[in-house]
Amino acid sequence: MDAPKHTISVTKTNKSRFHEVDFDNLAFGDVFTDHMFICEYRDGQWHDPKVVPYGPIALEPAAKVFHYGQEIFEGMKAYKDEAGKVWLFRPLENHKRLNKSASRLAIPELPESIFMQGLEELLRMDHHWIPQRADSSLYIRPFIIASGTGFHASPANRYLFIIACAPSGQYFSGKVSVKIEETYSRAAHGGVGYAKAGGNYAGSFYPMQLAVAEGFQQVVWTDDSTHEFVEEAGAMNVFARIGDTLVTCPTSDRILDGITRKSILQLAEAEGIPVEVRAIKVSELIEAAETGTLKELFGAGTAAVVSPISSFGYRGKLYQLPEIQDSYASHFKKGITDIQFNRAADKFGWRHLVC
Ligand SMILES: Cc1ncc(COP(=O)(O)O)c(C=O)c1O
Repeated sequence: MDAPKHTISVTKTNKSRFHEVDFDNLAFGDVFTDHMFICEYRDGQWHDPKVVPYGPIALEPAAKVFHYGQEIFEGMKAYKDEAGKVWLFRPLENHKRLNKSASRLAIPELPESIFMQGLEELLRMDHHWIPQRADSSLYIRPFIIASGTGFHASPANRYLFIIACAPSGQYFSGKVSVKIEETYSRAAHGGVGYAKAGGNYAGSFYPMQLAVAEGFQQVVWTDDSTHEFVEEAGAMNVFARIGDTLVTCPTSDRILDGITRKSILQLAEAEGIPVEVRAIKVSELIEAAETGTLKELFGAGTAAVVSPISSFGYRGKLYQLPEIQDSYASHFKKGITDIQFNRAADKFGWRHLVC
């Protein structure tokens, strides 16, 4: 059956901010395009999908998002190729994950047709905002908030689904040193770690501040019960290269099922790179670092794509990773970005043409 076609009303801005933006010096996620997509859930249904000028939204102080953190989001990017065509990377995976997060936070699911048609309409409106420079793209933030009101701790009866976009440069610049965290936990078994819920990130800011004060750029979370196993890093899944084997831990109810992670695993398997998806003990990483078999550690996620880790700190000691030629990190970064920017064949059917 064909997806229902939604009528999306469009109101254009009469005051574009495009010429105020310095596209040669883009930070990550700091400036926003001229328009946003918005759709409201009320009376048991999603209504009135529309593209409107980007700007403040009105919410009552009693909106439940403010009190109970009933909020979920996604992170994705649009890429412009050399010919000026606009592409998304595995957008249906983001939609599926949005709904997985929605169920866990007792938020009504959003139909795929609204997600995709809203996204495409918005990108067609603001396509000139998509940077064409190296390492730049349009970061896209779809999210749902509980706009329904009440001081009763229960799910809201109204929600807003919004998509806003930010032309962005690199997420990290320079070397990334991580702290392996064993005091604080990002997520617990039975909790909401696998959902992209705002509260997961709010809870990580304080341990992150402590790590930054110690000179690190990121925290690597360990499991909440023993703190013996590596789980994920900030907004990234973690990979290690031990010898020439690519190792990453399985996803669980504490770990976000990253789209970059699963793409790297598919690429590695197709290329015959030995892969192990299994629990990784911190002690194994330390031993491998000390004996020289730990060749690489890197994070993988939409924002940073692949981010090599230059050193990791554990119990006050810093372990340096070697600088190696032909790293898996640069190999997978190239493999993924070549597909995203339409520079390589799309063997897996991951690219989605917008306009
Ligand atoms: C906690 C966390 N882990 C992993 C990832 C990587 O996921 P993806 O590759 O889908 O961006 C993200 C980013 O979305 C994240 O926030």
